Amino acid sequence: MSKANYAVAEKTTTTWLTPKSIVDLLGPFDLDPCTPQEGMPWRTAKTMLTPADDGLATPWPVEDLVWHNPPYGRGQELWMEKAAEHGNNISLVFARTDTRWAHRFVFGHSNCRAVLFTEGRLKFCNTEGVEGDACPTGSMFVAYGAEAEQRLRKAWENGDIKGHFIAMQRMEVSDF
Ligand SMILES: C[S@@+](CC[C@H](N)C(=O)[O-])C[C@H]1O[C@@H](n2cnc3c(N)ncnc32)[C@H](O)[C@@H]1O
Repeated sequence: MSKANYAVAEKTTTTWLTPKSIVDLLGPFDLDPCTPQEGMPWRTAKTMLTPADDGLATPWPVEDLVWHNPPYGRGQELWMEKAAEHGNNISLVFARTDTRWAHRFVFGHSNCRAVLFTEGRLKFCNTEGVEGDACPTGSMFVAYGAEAEQRLRKAWENGDIKGHFIAMQRMEVSDF
């Protein structure tokens, strides 16, 4: 990724926080590379990076299980590329199944082990922790790596996250 691309990603900052109940359910996490500069009312991970730290430019240690709810917008593809290549995280993004990033870095990436599509729409929180309206579309949790898959599967099997859990099975074109 070029420096110019990091700058684009930084400009697409959106601050809607994951509800604490979801982070507590799926965690604990070692690293959250994208958190608000102004702080947030609960912790999402042991280490929380802000725009001043630049969590996109900072390497994510492979042994760190990462919580990743990236800034949405034009820079999102860069965050998803980073998450896919890292391979040890749960990413929470809008279920925009037609996008280039979804095809390259979710459905088409070998580190993606599972996707949980939400039934209904999540409500994210502002930086005071107050829940907003339901977001404009459904969301998907993306599990990169085995630990992420196991945690996501458990949350779904227990009925704590409602929706459809789809484990990835990769096929070569020659399989057809
Ligand atoms: C959708 S919010 C998610 C916040 C938190 N991760 C959570 O799950 O509740 C995305 C956050 O990323 C922050 N952000 C944007 N660009 C960033 C960067 N380059 N490095 C670190 N954080 C960044 C924004 O300020 C925003 O607070």
